[in-house]
Order: sequence, then C-alpha cells, then structure tokens
Amino acid sequence: MKHLLKMLDLSTEEIIEILNLADQLKYELKHNIPHPRLKGKSLGMIFQKSSTRTRVSFETGMYQLGGYPLFLSSHDLQIGRGEPVQDTARVLSRYLDGIMIRTFEQKEVEDLAEFGSIPVINGLTDFCHPCQVLADLMTIREFKGQFDGLKMCFIGDGNNMANSLIVGGLKVGMKVSAACPEGYHPDKSVLDFADKYDCFELTDSPVKAAEGADVIFTDVWASMGQEGEAEERRIAFKGYQVNDEIMAAANSEAMVQHCLPAHREEEITEKVFEAHAKEIFEEAENRLHAQKAVMVKVMGNG
Ligand code: CP
Ligand code: NVA
Repeated sequence: MKHLLKMLDLSTEEIIEILNLADQLKYELKHNIPHPRLKGKSLGMIFQKSSTRTRVSFETGMYQLGGYPLFLSSHDLQIGRGEPVQDTARVLSRYLDGIMIRTFEQKEVEDLAEFGSIPVINGLTDFCHPCQVLADLMTIREFKGQFDGLKMCFIGDGNNMANSLIVGGLKVGMKVSAACPEGYHPDKSVLDFADKYDCFELTDSPVKAAEGADVIFTDVWASMGQEGEAEERRIAFKGYQVNDEIMAAANSEAMVQHCLPAHREEEITEKVFEAHAKEIFEEAENRLHAQKAVMVKVMGNG
C-alpha cells in the first residue's frame, strides 16, 4: 500500500491489516510499550480546512511513532497563493517522508500522489474521509467483536462520510443502508460500487434504513465549505435526525457513531448523543490508533 487516497482503492485484506495493526498499536500505547516504528521520519500535514481531531491525532501519533510532524497551514504555504500542487508535490517529496492533506477537491490529493514521490494520506476531502472510516470500522469491531452479519446505517447527507462508510462497510462484509434526501445522494462512483452488492440499500426513509441496524451513523447537514447553504440544508434534512424513533427501529443493542463535530438537535438529538457518548468518544480516540497504523503501513520499512 503506497498511499491512502480513498476507501475505493483499498482491498478488504488491506483494511483488515490496518485494523489489526491499529489494535496492536492501541495495546502498545495503553501498556506503555514504546513503538518508534517511524523513527527519524517526517510527515507534512497540509490543512486547507479546520480540524481538531485530525490535526491533533496525526501530530501526536507521529510523535509516538518516533517521527516528526510538521503542521502546514495553507494560509502560510505558497499553495495558498496559487503555487500548483504538482510543484508543491515535487518540492515536499525532497524534504519529507510523507504528506497528509485535508482539502476540498479529491483531485488535489490524487495529483499530490501522482506528482510527488512520497506517500500521501487523505485527511478529508469533499469526496471522502478514509482515515475517519478506518477508525469507525476499528470501533465497530472493538464493540461488536466482528463485522459478519452486522448492518450499518447512515442517515443524512450523502457527503464525504457517507461515501467512505458505504464503501468501507461493504468491503468488510457488513450490510449497509443509507437514508439521504433527493438531491443529496452519495457520489455516483460510490453508488456504482455499492450497486454490485445485494446487501446495499439507498432510501429516502430514515426509519426504513434504520430497521434492524447494529450501527447508526450520521454527520452534519452542512459540511466545511457549505456554510452558505446551511439554511436550505436545514430544510432539506428535516426528518433526517438520529433520535428516539430511529433508535427504536434499530437493533436494541445498536451503537451510534458520529465523526464529530456534532450539531445537537440537528442531525442528532442531545439525548441520543449522550446515551452513546461512550462509543462516540472511543471512535474519536481510535482516530489516533488507526492513523498510526496507516502511517506505519505507507511510511514504514515493511
Ligand atoms: N472527524 C474529524 O475529522 O474531525 P476534525 O475535523 O476535528 O479533524
Ligand atoms: N462532513 C464533515 C466531516 C467533518 C469531519 C465535513 O466535511 O465538514
């Protein structure tokens, strides 16, 4: 595995290998076992959008692995003044051992990988959020023990999270349902992939999607960069809220996952959020372990 650009690129075996390594690294950290697997390596972290979890977990994770993280805000980089990504890629490849990038267009991430000569990790684009979904799968396996026979349900915007969850969930063998309003469906490439699976369902009924689900996911109605559409989205997504009615339709032992930040009383009620805070914050913690596994896989020496 050379890069982590999107879930569509990963095989089931690669996903399971990352999750196994993530479990191992979590164990080592919890037991104070040093694990400097990236000693002397440096990771550049380019951010064109805000972040709490991604920035802090990558930065701390790189430190725990014995490496050196550099936070590179696009406000300070020449990329923010129009230097082409192709040139940035070729320059940074001469200084660093890996790049993590959070940006708008997926093409920018793919170009960075194509024109550079070092591993690239996608820390979120408008299209996908693979690091988050690897942490989510890790959390599901941690709480449920396995993926076989489980049903994952996503309710809300067919955004970067929906795109990645559908692909990730199907690849590890889960049934997947998504409830999204007309006009806010997941990306066509994701639906083309998912259509090959009998166990995938896209509906406009949140209750139908939640029926018998073991894991309920949701995400904000307006993602970063869509703040100007917040009002029209509040109207479009009315009824696409994870609340008591949704939880009643799901399996009685169902988990709730949210990538955070959460907007209480919009996509999820305060009550459901707090009732499932244990697994939601474990999910946030698992960003650290899953991303360390990804960094070791793409930047380690085998
Ligand atoms: N879930 C997530 O990626 O959080 P941040 O935007 O805080 O990094
Ligand atoms: N869909 C959200 C995810 C944030 C982690 C966004 O892109 O803003």
